[in-house]
Amino acid sequence: MNDFIEEVLLTNEQIVEIADKLGKQITKDYEGKKPLLIGLLKGSVPFMAELIKHIDMEMEMDFMQATSYVGTHSSGTVTITKDTNIPVKGRHVIIVEDIVDSGLTIREVVNLLKDRHVASVKVATLLDKPDGRTVDNVFPDYVGQEIPGKFVVGFGLDYNDLYRNLPYVGVLKKSVYEKK
Ligand code: IMP
Repeated sequence: MNDFIEEVLLTNEQIVEIADKLGKQITKDYEGKKPLLIGLLKGSVPFMAELIKHIDMEMEMDFMQATSYVGTHSSGTVTITKDTNIPVKGRHVIIVEDIVDSGLTIREVVNLLKDRHVASVKVATLLDKPDGRTVDNVFPDYVGQEIPGKFVVGFGLDYNDLYRNLPYVGVLKKSVYEKK
């Protein structure tokens, strides 16, 4: 474990097991369809890469970037800074997230996709922090693991763009961001 990590919440092995479980569930739920997985950059990249290995059907993948976080807190407004290349109209879309916290990002992206007349939209997230929810009625459909309201990094999750490359998810020591 790295010295800036207080506690490991999910090991790499546990993340692979989660991706296997969710991938199998998606394969079953979308039988006969060709889902379009849309990862939210940049945090979803490692989870997306693991998840798709466990989806055993025709599927497509694209990415969007929606930004709301500055440091360890949500700024409260969501801006789309990169859009999909694949047209979404009529598609069965699964948004792939690293973590759902306030629920703001997911709410905005789901509403945007509905406005674009997708056939359906669901949310798959590696982590869910229900304690952080400020938006009503945001329930991710596929959740890898619920975690307490602590700031975590690794497996795509960052603090000011650092630590995304850790192969596990861990709680970042407060001393890392409180000294700044
Ligand atoms: P929401 O809009 O508040 O649900 O936040 C979703 C986004 O906030 C995620 O995609 C992450 O980029 C970021 N985020 C929320 N909690 C954490 C955390 O504990 N560590 C790192 N990023 C986080």
